Amino acid sequence: MSLYRLILIREVELGSYPVKHMITVSNLALQFSDKKPFEDVNLKFTPGNCYGVIGANGAGKSTFLRILSGDIDLSPGDISITPGQRMAVLKQDHYEFDNNHVLETVIMGHKELFDIMTEKDALYAKEDFNSEDGIKATELEEMFAELDDWDAETNAEKLLMPLNIGKKLHSKYMHELTGTEKVKVLLAQALFGNPDILLLDEPTNHLDIRAISWF
Ligand SMILES: Nc1ncnc2c1ncn2[C@@H]1O[C@H](COP(=O)(O)OP(=O)(O)OP(=O)(O)O)[C@@H](O)[C@H]1O
Ligand SMILES: [Mg+2]
Repeated sequence: MSLYRLILIREVELGSYPVKHMITVSNLALQFSDKKPFEDVNLKFTPGNCYGVIGANGAGKSTFLRILSGDIDLSPGDISITPGQRMAVLKQDHYEFDNNHVLETVIMGHKELFDIMTEKDALYAKEDFNSEDGIKATELEEMFAELDDWDAETNAEKLLMPLNIGKKLHSKYMHELTGTEKVKVLLAQALFGNPDILLLDEPTNHLDIRAISWF
């Protein structure tokens, strides 16, 4: 049995009203052909709290987190997340980002920000940059400035340093890293950009004692 499935939720306000429930789970059930790990699940996750999911091996903890993150379609039941709240998930697939650079992988933790950065870079790299592209670039710059009131790369580096992923590794491809190094980068990815809701399934697996204390 392991305690290390965590759901962390930040204290937030919408307008001047504090948000009461960040995630609401209604009548959730999970049915596989040969078993029913849970049914009639009704839960409200409130801001400012950290929740642990405990259960025997195979009880359905990881599956529950995957349902919350939208990774698995559920039926029956309903999950609602307060609009505007950003959820980040510690990725379990250690090969998913093999063809991305380390720093880029961390920034990909904030998908919206990363997509704008990518679109902006592609636009500026165009040889036939025209006035329409100029208008689009201005729009993207405004969206970027709204999201990125900090420097994405510097912040990604700041997350990697205490995990002992030094500068020399930052421009390497993920597939060039060891398993332990990859897990650390994926942890930095989940934490990047200060998400409102953070889902972590066994985050301390493969981490050394120094990284666990930092975490
Ligand atoms: N798509 C699926 N079809 C059928 N059974 C599945 C499917 N996905 C998961 N299971 C089964 O559902 C059960 C719950 O799996 P899950 O990985 O969520 O458990 P867990 O509580 O996270 O276990 P562990 O403590 O080992 O991490 C397991 O018995 C698993 O084999
Ligand atoms: Mg599990």
